Formats: sequence, structure tokens, C-alpha cells
Amino acid sequence: GINYIPAKLVLLGEMGTGKSSLVLRFVKGQFFDYQESTIGAAFFTQTLAVNETTAKFEIWDTAGQERYHSLAPMYYRGAAAAIVVYDISNTDSFTRAKKWVEELRQHGNPNMVIALAGNKADLVDNKQVEAEVAQTYAQDNGLLFLETSAKTAQGVNELFLEIARRLPKA
Ligand code: GTP
Ligand code: MG
Repeated sequence: GINYIPAKLVLLGEMGTGKSSLVLRFVKGQFFDYQESTIGAAFFTQTLAVNETTAKFEIWDTAGQERYHSLAPMYYRGAAAAIVVYDISNTDSFTRAKKWVEELRQHGNPNMVIALAGNKADLVDNKQVEAEVAQTYAQDNGLLFLETSAKTAQGVNELFLEIARRLPKA
């Protein structure tokens, strides 16, 4: 039979950065210009074949609104992986992403695979966060880094694939 590696994965990041859109792109291949803001959190599963095994992602898509911040530990506790999302057209969202990384380093599972996703990469004309800056930050902090676009699908499958490759083998 198929050997599934279950992997709890959490998405964190400022409201409106595109967490739900990334999940919807990855799980259903869909994108909506008017995606509703998440309330609390939403749960999805998706399998992904990587090398000889198949990762089974159990995905918690959290709400970015600050009033839900206190709920976050429920979702990142015991998580094998996290995707911290910022919006390349919004410097504040990058600042917030760095705060999430600090929180994960302090309170998350020490072996957690953490990915930093610079989403909305299609908004090149409004770019505020240069990829080199984010890449340097990611390198200094041991994070996987990718620019993504839930809208065009750029980098989305690669993001989950790179995470799956880094998961501990069952
Ligand atoms: P919360 O649930 O409130 O935390 O927000 P979120 O991070 O889940 O963001 P969501 O996926 O709801 O997306 C917010 C808005 O950004 C929506 O209008 C999306 O259509 C838009 N959006 C998401 N990803 C992209 C992208 O890659 N490119 C562009 N241009 N717009 C995007
Ligand atoms: Mg959402």
C-alpha cells in the first residue's frame, strides 16, 4: 500500500496577504479576486507525492486579523511545517511575518520546517519588498523562501513540494 507521511502544516501572516488563496490554489486549483477573510481558522487536507513517498498535508489556514492572534498556538503547536506569508506589495506585512517567525522559533516545535512566502508576486508594479532582502533574512534564519502568486499559481506547488522534501521521513 501507499506509505503516507502525515504532516500538520499551519499558515500564518497578516490579514489579506493571501494565506487562504494559497491554500485554495494548492488544494483546488482555484483563485478568487474576492476571497473572504478567514474567521478563526479553516482546515484542508491534500496529498503530494514526493520521491518514493506521499506527504499528507493537514493544513490549518489561520485568520490574520490580530484579534485571533491568541488562537495561533493551537494551530502551530505540534505542526511539522509552517508557511509564513507576506505580501510583496506591503512592507508592514513583511515586518509582521518576521514577528511570526520569532514566535515560531520561541514557541513552535524546534524541528519545524518554516517557509517564508512572498505572495502576490504578480503585483510587480507595486513591489515594496525586494526578493533579495527577504532571501537574506530567510537565509540568516534557516527558512525556505519563495515568491508566490496564488493568482497566477507561480511558486505554489514548488512551495509545498520543497516543504515536503524537508519533512522528516516516517
Ligand atoms: P485573512 O483570512 O483575513 O487572514 O486573509 P488571507 O491571508 O487569507 O488573504 P486572502 O487569501 O483572503 O486574500 C486577500 C485578498 O488578496 C483577496 O482579495 C485575494 O483575491 C487577494 N490575493 C490573494 N493572493 C493573491 C495573489 O497572489 N495576487 C493578487 N494579485 N491578489 C491576491
Ligand atoms: Mg484567510
